[in-house]
Amino acid sequence: MSARPKLYINQGIPEDGEAIKLYRKQCEITMYDEKKGGVVSVPREEFLRSVKGVDAIHLAYPAKIDNEALDAAGPQLKVIGTMSVGLDHLDLAECSRRNVKVGYTPDVLTDAVAEAAIALTLATARRHKEGMADVKNGVWGSTWSNSLYLCGKDIKGSTVGIVGLGRIGFEVAKRLKAFGINRLLYCGRTHKDYASEVDGEFVAFDDLLRQSDFVIACCSINPSNHKLFNAEAFKKMKSSAILVNVSRGILIDQDALYDALKTGELHAAGIDVTTPEPLPVDHPLLTLPNCTVLPHLGSASINARHAMANLTARNILAGLKGDPLPAPVPSQK
Ligand code: DGY
Repeated sequence: MSARPKLYINQGIPEDGEAIKLYRKQCEITMYDEKKGGVVSVPREEFLRSVKGVDAIHLAYPAKIDNEALDAAGPQLKVIGTMSVGLDHLDLAECSRRNVKVGYTPDVLTDAVAEAAIALTLATARRHKEGMADVKNGVWGSTWSNSLYLCGKDIKGSTVGIVGLGRIGFEVAKRLKAFGINRLLYCGRTHKDYASEVDGEFVAFDDLLRQSDFVIACCSINPSNHKLFNAEAFKKMKSSAILVNVSRGILIDQDALYDALKTGELHAAGIDVTTPEPLPVDHPLLTLPNCTVLPHLGSASINARHAMANLTARNILAGLKGDPLPAPVPSQK
């Protein structure tokens, strides 16, 4: 019988990366194989079977860790390393109660998500989805009948509202300053001293909605902000406004978003995150030309994903040894 700790990895990690090399030296690894499985995320039933008896789980979002998963794993489970900064898929109180250490990956993905937020803001503002569809459908030449064909909104001179000026929101704000925006508003639980570096004005959520040309959601998720963007919120926004979400899908009431976009109450939206993920291909939001939907690509840069895998490996190996984790979740610090 092997004395090595057992590790389950629920999504492929880079074969040439540091993490897998470290694991190979120290652990007995089982890794989900998406080529065999046919889908990127391991199906729940298989996940529950695969975690049985392991000492550690290297976890890719959105696989849920709840009572059921912890029961399935068993009492020998020592540590979970989630390859994410978001923690909404984990029952952290239950992990602590069972003495399971949990590590996550803050900081190493901040720049990648900030870049993704800027890309999605530009793509939505400048109507890339419609442009790409016209190229593909061969209507490019025939519809370019006047000089306002597919013209979009300018970021320069605009008022941008950032919901959640944490690590990611702040990096988004820094990048936006280079576009020559007029005002930068932000809201959240508390005023941030560092906001002065980006001339950020701390305002109430409703004021941010009323005044912003672009609203970019970068906040972390907690039960109090589920469906923060609902029919009422959309009514407060300018009808010319653009909403971008790189936080979590649950922040938005998607039925209300559909109505607001369809009726022109809201100009356009770019969402990197949805409920559920993946979004069903027949979802009404996908029929709208003014709604750009991405498959949760925020942290999907090669450097970020390597760094996330490496930090997760360091969290897990520390946890297996009983050492303090390099990046424990805030509730276990
Ligand atoms: C995060 O880090 O929370 C990402 O959204 C998951 O990839």
